[in-house]
Amino acid sequence: MNVVILAAGMGKRMQSALPKVLHPLAGKPLLSHVLDTARSLSASRLCVIYGHGGAAVQELLARQPEKVATALQEPQLGTGHAVMQALPELDDSVPTLILYGDVPLTTSASLRALVDVAGNDKLGILTVEQDDPFGLGRIVRENNEIVRIVEQKDATEAERAIKEINSGIMVAPTAHLKRWLAALKNNNAQGEYYLTDIVAQAVADGVRVVSAQPSAQWEVAGVNSKVQLAELERIHQRNIALKLLEQGVTLMDPARIDVRGELICGRDVTIDVGCVFEGKVELGDGVRVAAHNVIFNARILAGAQIKPFCHIEEAVVGEVSIIGPYARLRPGTVLAEDVHVGNFVEIKNGQVAAHSKANHLAYIGDATIGSRVNIGAGTITCNYDGVNKSRTVIEDDAFIGSDSQLIAPVTVGKGATLGAGTTLSKDAPAGKLTISRPRQVTIDNWSRPVKKPK
Ligand code: UD1
Ligand code: CA
Repeated sequence: MNVVILAAGMGKRMQSALPKVLHPLAGKPLLSHVLDTARSLSASRLCVIYGHGGAAVQELLARQPEKVATALQEPQLGTGHAVMQALPELDDSVPTLILYGDVPLTTSASLRALVDVAGNDKLGILTVEQDDPFGLGRIVRENNEIVRIVEQKDATEAERAIKEINSGIMVAPTAHLKRWLAALKNNNAQGEYYLTDIVAQAVADGVRVVSAQPSAQWEVAGVNSKVQLAELERIHQRNIALKLLEQGVTLMDPARIDVRGELICGRDVTIDVGCVFEGKVELGDGVRVAAHNVIFNARILAGAQIKPFCHIEEAVVGEVSIIGPYARLRPGTVLAEDVHVGNFVEIKNGQVAAHSKANHLAYIGDATIGSRVNIGAGTITCNYDGVNKSRTVIEDDAFIGSDSQLIAPVTVGKGATLGAGTTLSKDAPAGKLTISRPRQVTIDNWSRPVKKPK
């Protein structure tokens, strides 16, 4: 099957410099949603018709796993004219499916149904019954057979009363499509070459016109404004939330979760309100994510708890670990099982072995930390000298006293203790107390200054 995606419209109502089809829905450009759907139908040839913002659209297409042909439509003389630009790319021996770059949520199941009902020799149209069909093309039937489509602006009063509308999505036998497009005229209210006029031509040629209906109206809803984009985002998030609930995930409020990517959950996962999941996130069995967490490309292993207000990015949280509240795990962080990371602790590219704890106010960057290590409040690994990054190694069973600075590269040996307030610039030997603060003194005979009389 050939798939043509129309994406030349300028999207003036978006009020944005970004081309309409590049605006994100669930963190992914509208056009990428449509490309992914086309891919799921195993399209043999893909062609995107672009116009406005060509360079940015081309850039997105260059990142696709397979070759996507493009055709520039300039000027934009209507949907029929748009499809004409793709004709050199199409294989005559298979049908051509026409999709819209700004209609992101059509399911492959609905498109599959349309393609199946049309076969190789019929023209298929995805239609829906809409209570308010204003502005859309109406499906005109005689004896229940589709005979043509009439646009709002060209319709008579009686035709405007028709509630069955053209979603715009069609599939056509390619050789016929080429002939029909070549014969299009623009003598209509908008002076455009209407793709929809191929319907009457098909009927005149004795080609049957059939239809399929999607499961819901949102499948064919297009985005023309930020209002419509926001509405579709909510519908899409609602659908994702329902799928998670069906899989057995507990969502404290299905209306207050945002998944912008892929969220994979084990059994008995609980997610409280206000969480955002981006990229690929895995939550193992029994994971509990409390309110207001942002988790991006991360794996949270079984039994771990993420308390409120954490930011976790490209990190692995080990089994039964407890993170937060208010913790930040940055890229490269890998925590083994039963690690505790508490409030205002930041870990970047730090690997922490089992049962270690950093419960309050610490910065751990470029560090390897052993098992059962206790990192006191206010500990800082000084990993950056202004030019180079260096590593800190803290071996098993070490105890780092509060408010210590570890000037990397430096190693704290197995079972070593650092006294509170230590500035460690040389390695601390295993099993011993290392301390670098001046001895405490008390000054006798000292008195506080007194205010001078004026
Ligand atoms: C079109 C259909 C109408 C249908 C409606 C569904 C025609 C003549 N009308 O309406 O029956 O109910 O879609 O939304 O086909 N585009 C181009 N080049 C152009 C014109 C449009 O690429 O020259 C693209 C737009 O970017 C958009 C899509 O085609 O993705 C639909 O265009 P739009 O103007 O929104 O639809 P209408 O023509 O109003
Ligand atoms: Ca239009």
